Amino acid sequence: MSEVAVSFSLPDYPQGYRLQTPRLLLSALTEDDAQGLWPLVSDNRLTPFLAWEPHRSLEETAGLLVSLVEAQQAAKGFHWIVRQEKQIIGLVSLIEVCRKHRNWTLNRAELAYWIGVPYQGHGYATEAAAAIIAFGFKKLHLHKIRVYHATDNHASARTIEKLGFRYIGEEKEAFQKNRIWHNLRHFELLVSELPRIPIPTERPLK
Ligand SMILES: CC(C)(COP(=O)(O)OP(=O)(O)OC[C@H]1O[C@@H](n2cnc3c(N)ncnc32)[C@H](O)[C@@H]1OP(=O)(O)O)[C@@H](O)C(=O)NCCC(=O)NCCS
Repeated sequence: MSEVAVSFSLPDYPQGYRLQTPRLLLSALTEDDAQGLWPLVSDNRLTPFLAWEPHRSLEETAGLLVSLVEAQQAAKGFHWIVRQEKQIIGLVSLIEVCRKHRNWTLNRAELAYWIGVPYQGHGYATEAAAAIIAFGFKKLHLHKIRVYHATDNHASARTIEKLGFRYIGEEKEAFQKNRIWHNLRHFELLVSELPRIPIPTERPLK
């Protein structure tokens, strides 16, 4: 297989990653965001299906941000703080960015997201994820975005459905959390399928 040359420049960090949606402002994660994230990431109700446990100290949040910002600056993962009228409400990310494997061109990433418990149920995850998916294809020149949800995570299942991802299949016992094995449902979206993403619509606050 002949190598496909991929040549493009990434937007300037962090300014070039600022995104505005009808109701939300998305800005590239910085090390200054720990204080704003702390009340949300320390909430026990957020993490039953996530790969991490609720944070127990502000230092833990600050330490995590240092590693995420480093990954972002190395273009390995991109993270956006989601704000609704200046209030930090969540985080949406394109992680596991993989451009090549040996002689294969891949240009793929994985979508990840969470919205703080007090702000769930208003369509924010769908609105924010739609914006970074479009950015990932158009500005980061991704070819494919993957997403997964634990079978019992019904809110995430519905979010993925609303975003228009194509279902691939179900992986059995993909991870164990709290001594329970969870299946993972796999989805993907190609750049050529971008029109599948619905335009985010305004939804009044409850
Ligand atoms: C998944 C998550 C990001 C959704 O955030 P959100 O801002 O509430 O999402 P949206 O409002 O855009 O969409 C959620 C949809 O799921 C639906 N939903 C919520 N809870 C549900 C449940 N228990 N069963 C079925 N549907 C549910 C909502 O009604 C909504 O669908 P609708 O617009 O058709 O009414 C949020 O619940 C979350 O952060 N969960 C914890 C972290 C997590 O699981 N992240 C995903 C890992 S794969």
